[in-house]
Amino acid sequence: MQFDYTPVPSIAVFGENSALKLKDEIIALGGKRVMIACTKNMVSRIHHVIDHLGEICISIYDKAEPHCPKHIALGAVEEFKAKNCDIIVAVGGGSSIGIGKAITLRTSAPLIVIVTTPCGSESNPIHGMLVGNKKKTGRDPKVIPNTSIYDPALTTSMNAHLTGTIGMNSLAHCVEALYAKVKSPVSDLMAIEGIKSLTSGLPKSIKRPNDIIARAEVLFGGMLSGYCVTLAGIAIHHKLCHVLGGHHGIPHGESNSVILPYAIAYNETAAP
Ligand SMILES: [Fe+2]
Repeated sequence: MQFDYTPVPSIAVFGENSALKLKDEIIALGGKRVMIACTKNMVSRIHHVIDHLGEICISIYDKAEPHCPKHIALGAVEEFKAKNCDIIVAVGGGSSIGIGKAITLRTSAPLIVIVTTPCGSESNPIHGMLVGNKKKTGRDPKVIPNTSIYDPALTTSMNAHLTGTIGMNSLAHCVEALYAKVKSPVSDLMAIEGIKSLTSGLPKSIKRPNDIIARAEVLFGGMLSGYCVTLAGIAIHHKLCHVLGGHHGIPHGESNSVILPYAIAYNETAAP
């Protein structure tokens, strides 16, 4: 057996109501002036977290959009500098984390993520934005979030459609890690455990949205799926989804749900 393995260099804080530990995590990183980046819909879901921060919350940039368009990301960088913020907290998934990484890349400010939509971005060094209709990406260890907080209580308000499509993206990352080029026996463990957690938690979360144990299973599977992306990378499934997303504006979870069975069938003989 031969393989290389580098652990994910980001702190994970997992558990029900762990979002209320945000202030402690900010203080631990020396933050005093916080900017929160999220979508408009997210603000009402995290009002208790914002209230808990009190006066250190200087700015709420609620303009996150799918695929992180360039003008949105650079607008956030400008606001961050204009308001003298010193730490960025991205809440949500790739759209919000894209803004956080754009800021960290240009200011070196620490980045905390509250992960409600695991996508790998919360633990990897890949940054990107939508320029025209093309997703331009880069890689810089500087943008790896310092801390990622996973709070299943923040996911109970997700409807069935969102739960399903986000879950299919996580499932696809785990499946893809089993045949990606740089996979290892360690990423295999995470992929298999992730698939177990997701296939157990997803149907229950859709039937009973407030089932916090099921929601925790889904979020744990999602966390592992993010590690799978970081450790094993992506392959044909995600390449196809990125092309569909960038060129045709198809949301990531939806394209994942449609492509996954075909990508599995295509790879079936090569990676049974
Ligand atoms: Fe994905």
